[in-house]
Amino acid sequence: MKILVTGGAGFIGSHVVRRMVTTYSEYTIYNLDALTYAGNLENLKDIEKAANYKFFKGDIVDEAFVFEIFKEYNFDGIIHLAAESHVDRSIKDPLAFVKTNIIGTVNLLNAAKEFWKDDKKGKKFYHVSTDEVYGSLGANGLFTEETSYQPNSPYSASKASSDHFVRAYGETYGLPYVISNCSNNYGPNHFPEKLIPLFINNIIEGKSLPVYGNGKYTRDWLFVEDHAAAIDLVFHKGKNRETYNIGGFNEWQNIDLVKLLCKLMDNKLQRSLGTSEKLIAYVKDRPGHDLRYAIDASKISKELGWKPSVTFEEGLEKTINWFLENKEWLLNVTSGEYQDYYNKMYS
Ligand code: NAD
Ligand code: TYD
Repeated sequence: MKILVTGGAGFIGSHVVRRMVTTYSEYTIYNLDALTYAGNLENLKDIEKAANYKFFKGDIVDEAFVFEIFKEYNFDGIIHLAAESHVDRSIKDPLAFVKTNIIGTVNLLNAAKEFWKDDKKGKKFYHVSTDEVYGSLGANGLFTEETSYQPNSPYSASKASSDHFVRAYGETYGLPYVISNCSNNYGPNHFPEKLIPLFINNIIEGKSLPVYGNGKYTRDWLFVEDHAAAIDLVFHKGKNRETYNIGGFNEWQNIDLVKLLCKLMDNKLQRSLGTSEKLIAYVKDRPGHDLRYAIDASKISKELGWKPSVTFEEGLEKTINWFLENKEWLLNVTSGEYQDYYNKMYS
């Protein structure tokens, strides 16, 4: 099998690539990534020389390039993760999200449609998406696969649009596809613009911890390797034209999560308890901030037998240890473009 993974140098993509390369030596894994600010080949250093792994630097918005690699390699399956993925950036520059998340996805769909038109057997277009497409929950209820789409940010609107295109290519052209919508991930290699890695980095550096609004927003957190395991399962066992919701059964209000993180970090850094909590600063809220996300993951659990393998405490411990042991990684990604973004965003 020749499998194209897009966005494989990013946070989740790198865990997916590693898992596929090391688990399935009989497959060749082709990683296509534009290496934007969020893509980093250091994430894959340990497997870069594997015989069944190949990297292409390229942009999914570039139609000719996408068609060229399809023509040359005739992929059997695609696991599509490449995206602009940060809500705050989408508020500042929605068009970048339209380009990569919508046009880029349609380019991949067109290539799959064209090159699989005579033989769809065994082919699969797997679109990795987010629970944010469902919008915001109130205090109660969970997102199921039947929840209607109500995206509130330019990011979630672009992901919702790409989900619809994938579904439409299944209906209109018979393209074999599967979609999954996952809750917030955390873990090693997480780019420090998102809540958990940003706050770990700021605690290490003694910088303030900018909590948006009153901090009472709720997210459902999943360890990234558990998401990669779910992606492996859905790619191999997921039914054609189905959607699977993936989540951690693990809801936290931001402020409670931040306080837990502060406690764990004080302990790890041998600082007196309460040191990191003093860094918490309530700042202006994010516009259109979704109140609560929570996933009902019973379908993937019942039909495919998936469940998270680590508790939140175990996952956070692994994550914190990784960041403390990989300070150079953190230093490399927090210089340059990122520093500029950070100054503009939080000054
Ligand atoms: P990320 O921002 O860490 O990585 C995205 C990767 O895509 C980077 O390597 C980047 O270089 C690459 N990329 C961006 N634009 C590209 C383009 N035009 N052409 C080729 N490559 C491009 O994102 P992530 O957090 O790893 O998310 C991966 C996928 O999972 C996304 O589709 C996202 O919507 C989805 N998702 C993320 C989460 C989460 O909590 N992070 C949760 C659910 C779903
Ligand atoms: P984030 O990690 O950006 O993920 P998403 O918006 O996709 O859920 O944010 C998680 C939560 O943390 C969200 O409610 C926004 C909040 N947040 C802050 O309070 N401060 C920050 O500096 C960031 C980046 C996020």
